[in-house]
Amino acid sequence: KITPVLMAGGSGTRLWPVSRRSFPKQFAQLIGDQTLFQASARRLSGADFAAPVVMTNADFRFIVAEQLDQIGIPPAAIVIEPLGRNTAPAILAAALMAAAEDPERLLLVAPSDHVIPDAAAFARAVEAGTGPARQGRIVTFGITPTRPETGYGYLELAGEGEGPQPLARFVEKPDTEAAAQMLAQGNFLWNAGIFLFSARTMIEAFRAHAPDYLEPVQTAIDGAHTDLGFLRLARAPWEGLADQSIDYAVMEKAGNLAVVRFSDHWSDLGGWDAVWREELSGGGHADGVVADDRSTAIGCENVLLRSDSEDLQVVGIGLKDMMVVATSDAVLVAGMDKAQEVRQAVTALKKKG
Ligand code: GDD
Ligand code: MG
Repeated sequence: KITPVLMAGGSGTRLWPVSRRSFPKQFAQLIGDQTLFQASARRLSGADFAAPVVMTNADFRFIVAEQLDQIGIPPAAIVIEPLGRNTAPAILAAALMAAAEDPERLLLVAPSDHVIPDAAAFARAVEAGTGPARQGRIVTFGITPTRPETGYGYLELAGEGEGPQPLARFVEKPDTEAAAQMLAQGNFLWNAGIFLFSARTMIEAFRAHAPDYLEPVQTAIDGAHTDLGFLRLARAPWEGLADQSIDYAVMEKAGNLAVVRFSDHWSDLGGWDAVWREELSGGGHADGVVADDRSTAIGCENVLLRSDSEDLQVVGIGLKDMMVVATSDAVLVAGMDKAQEVRQAVTALKKKG
């Protein structure tokens, strides 16, 4: 069986003000009636999967435990990273802990903030990747790109065909020009952010491309202690770790990548424009207007109007290509093409204190 490793430590700043430090997007009900985290845990709970390991931080530990409990999925472990050091050390820690039991164990690392409605199609894609993963590849999942998105990684295909295949190159978050070029070239897919590999393969990849992580992460595991059922990694070795995503630390450098195409619906809700697009794809929205029950659009085109506060009505008149997102203590008003820059709002507000 494959062990799912759910990544739930990010703070989702691009979905401010709904996504907050203390309650980021993966735990919020952005779309549909369960949270993105719960939907992800469900998707990875079928017959092919063992109990999930959740990588998170101290702030989210109770939310994680409660949301898993609500859907009846007992975790194998909820691991607490003492500080946010991005996905590279978190994934290495999961691999090292699994390898202590069985180095050949297959791990499926998955973000907890994705929308993938067809769980069966997803399970088939994972199944297709197990062969290459057992043979020592890090398997990525490729989405057919539809726009020059700069918030994703790009996977360059080495050949043709539908089945799993070796990857020529991994390019993380290109600039607009490079993204447009890759889109035009046609032999690139988007990286879904989901990775399948054996514990041994990932540890070897770190040894080759990011060796500085190995010793401190192992020390953090050795010094870990259990606290109310959570596994807390030791703080001191974690503090000194470089803050880097797995994409930059390992994927861009590794030569043993493979890709499985995933052609069903996938969205990472990486910004309000993605939430808007996701709602639009559900149909029934004239003029590109997505407005919730508390919002009213008059003469608007391509707008997202949303209020998460019972006390606030949002009204847009004559707006074009804009998003307005209100909560009880903050309102975001931005151009639809500025969705990726919302994280700057969070940085700016932090500076103001
Ligand atoms: N445990 C833990 N610790 N999880 C983290 C941390 C951390 O320090 N930082 C981020 N995460 C979680 C996030 O909550 C999310 O579920 C996942 O790891 C990915 O992080 P993001 O910050 O959302 O990455 P991204 O969206 O910018 O880019 C990644 O995903 C894209 C697709 O959604 C990359 O893999 C891209 O290549 C990919 O295209
Ligand atoms: Mg993301």
